[in-house]
Amino acid sequence: MQAFNNMATSNLSTLFFFFGLLLLFANALSMANAKIHSHEFVIQATPVKRLCNTQNSITVNGQFPGPTLEVNNGDSLEIKVINRAQYNITIHWHGVRQMRTAWADGPEFVTQCPIRPGGSYIYRFTIQGQEGTLWWHAHSSWLRATVYGGLIIRPKEGDSYPFPKPKRESLLLLGEWWDANPIDVVNQATRTGAAPNVSDTFTINGQPGDLLKCSSNGTTIVPVDSGETNLIRVVNSGLNQQLFFTIANHKLTVVGADASYLKPFTTSVVMLGPGQTTDVLITTDQPPARYYIAARAYASAQGAPFDNTTTTAILEYKTAPCPAKGASVKPVLPLLPAYNDTPTATAFTTSLRSPRKVEVPTDIDDSLFFTVGLGLQNCPPGTSSQNCQGPNGTRFAASMNNVSFVLPSNFSLLQSHQEGIPGVFTTDFPAAPPVKFDYTGNVSQSLWQPVKATKVYKLKYGANVQLVLQGTSIFTAENHPIHLHGYDFYIIAEGFGNFNPKTDTAKFNLVDPPLRNTASVPVNGWAVIRFVADNPGVWLLHCHLDVHITWGLATAFIVEDGVGMLEKLESAPADLPVC
Ligand code: C2O
Repeated sequence: MQAFNNMATSNLSTLFFFFGLLLLFANALSMANAKIHSHEFVIQATPVKRLCNTQNSITVNGQFPGPTLEVNNGDSLEIKVINRAQYNITIHWHGVRQMRTAWADGPEFVTQCPIRPGGSYIYRFTIQGQEGTLWWHAHSSWLRATVYGGLIIRPKEGDSYPFPKPKRESLLLLGEWWDANPIDVVNQATRTGAAPNVSDTFTINGQPGDLLKCSSNGTTIVPVDSGETNLIRVVNSGLNQQLFFTIANHKLTVVGADASYLKPFTTSVVMLGPGQTTDVLITTDQPPARYYIAARAYASAQGAPFDNTTTTAILEYKTAPCPAKGASVKPVLPLLPAYNDTPTATAFTTSLRSPRKVEVPTDIDDSLFFTVGLGLQNCPPGTSSQNCQGPNGTRFAASMNNVSFVLPSNFSLLQSHQEGIPGVFTTDFPAAPPVKFDYTGNVSQSLWQPVKATKVYKLKYGANVQLVLQGTSIFTAENHPIHLHGYDFYIIAEGFGNFNPKTDTAKFNLVDPPLRNTASVPVNGWAVIRFVADNPGVWLLHCHLDVHITWGLATAFIVEDGVGMLEKLESAPADLPVC
């Protein structure tokens, strides 16, 4: 701007006018290229055999995992979801910004009522300014255990990746499989108040892999040639577990996460919380052979049970020598970090940087501080002990700022906001914890019981928001993947212990912090995020461990309309399901 200071004002405005025209023209050009992708998703029960047993799994179009959507930045999607299953369902397009189209976001009772068995709904939305890997999943009970798939967003036609064009691209969806009906698993936990059973195996593209029983035949193969650079898109589409991911003998160059590019860096292991995606480049510079791609738990909660299986796929050089008849040559196994290796998880998350200097909001309008963690609900006298099988006869709970979030059931939050229907929610979610305490210390048991309520926090259109996410050690501390719908945010710092506003601000990266939709809040620690509230609607903020959503680790932001059409939520689609 310095250079413009001496220019005559008239010159300046001519320049801006010209610029404006150019922008309009460029916009029109790219609009002409943008496509509309129409698909039908039929939700149906389908027999799926894993770990030697068959489950009648809920799937999309009979596929498990579901269909991969491939689009270009700027394209629109219209997906007709037809529910032929026996459960209510909604689909969420995880990480899609949904500018002004909150009606298509999907979380049940937040932006819509569920699609009932026999019903249908068309999700219509546009991908704007996002490139990389996202995914879609059911957002109703635990149906996302089997109802999920990838959403690949390539650059606009004519644009290119900010890295050398990869020879091949593969999508690896890391999932979690129960040798049971996942809906029964969560319903039993809700009835008893105890923790739900952990999964029986992790999966890669729906397959447990060689190390699990009855699984060798289906193991996912990623074919490669020597001397290529390939893009691998990794998604943690599991429910309840952070995962370490690695490939034997190959370095991973991280180039993106959550559909935003990153400054490339090299690592041997990636950590992904449920909801998160990571794009990596690999160079096939090893002797032609077969190498395991592997993932297993990063389990940060001390003493809590977890699925300790290792899921594998195989990176297979096409020129790998065939094993001699009868001999079975096992692929090379990689080293994975120990289950509780928090230093490795932290080394990964703190390596992420935006590719260049970015515009981080600075004049903060809403400075928020939310605690995130577990709780235990005492059972009122007279309750059957059958329903209080949590620790010491309690029921498990979880909360943000001591509020354990309860979803409405008669209207969606968005509809009641839009139409001014009273009694569905209140807007008194506190900007800071009602009681200040040593969050990561030895917390007094008197602070373990959250209050159940449907409280949301209201933001003015365009507000600059800073949110400190502070983990607590109530019952057990653990890493929480906190996801915000409808937004990408900058993660400007993270650390252990209690966030200290006097000293920790020195750690803020206001230059090139990573842009994500899900932040890993370190075990017994905190993370600070910033965003501009430029998307009107109701947006769920929650822990992406499904068990924690079940227990209430959530709240929502209501972002008000701004001025004029372009800052207003669109009107509700005619086929929006009613409750
Ligand atoms: Cu990926 Cu609210 O979810």
